[in-house]
Amino acid sequence: MTRPVSPRNPCPFLRALVAQGLLPDSTAPLGLVAQTVERVARAGEGQPALGSAAVRAIALIANGLGPSAMLRNAGEGLHLDRLRDGPLDKHGVGSGLLDAQARFVVDEWTRLEGFASDKTVSDGSVERGLDLNELTRMMDANFERAAGRRRRVDRALMNGEWPVLLKVLGKQGAKGRFLSLAELRDLVEHRRLPARMQARLSAG
Ligand code: HEM
Repeated sequence: MTRPVSPRNPCPFLRALVAQGLLPDSTAPLGLVAQTVERVARAGEGQPALGSAAVRAIALIANGLGPSAMLRNAGEGLHLDRLRDGPLDKHGVGSGLLDAQARFVVDEWTRLEGFASDKTVSDGSVERGLDLNELTRMMDANFERAAGRRRRVDRALMNGEWPVLLKVLGKQGAKGRFLSLAELRDLVEHRRLPARMQARLSAG
């Protein structure tokens, strides 16, 4: 059973954490956000570490850059249901996989599939996936197609999204780490973490 997630939370990763009951849908203390993200990352292949301080810093500014907004987040925590229209909202200058109401957009998924290629995993099986070069091409193309309605910071923000997701959700392939398309779709469309990570999380 997954929990409902506010349409005003546009982050596919945080949406999955809320849906799985790892974070509340509303307000979460910065320490809890940082700890939870770290715990989920450690459940990934190779137990990657993200650095709690970096996650905390993002959560501090995510609802507004002004001193009063930052003071409020420092005291109350991150408002996960108020990320839309905050400083990290790229207003469509991204993958477009989720629309403004956080609905999954099949046409954008089909476009994203075009950046992927076959990846061989340790047991010799092959699956479609995205490595860092392919993700970089996708991010560049996302920025490119938004000419005229993008901020310069939007391209930099992407580096804190897709490459970080590659670290957390990535699988080790014969030629390096990659995001499995099947797992990525499950995350973005169904707000589910890969079964291998869920199993490690429930084992503590
Ligand atoms: C406090 C922590 C975080 C906050 C406040 C946050 C916030 C956001 C926001 C507001 C967006 C929407 C950006 C847009 O308009 O395209 C977003 C997108 C995204 N975030 Fe997060 N995020 C956080 C942590 C993470 C982490 C840890 C990961 C990876 C493991 C991640 C991966 C992504 C990805 C892949 C996107 C989608 C970008 C696209 O569609 O192009 N986020 N995040």
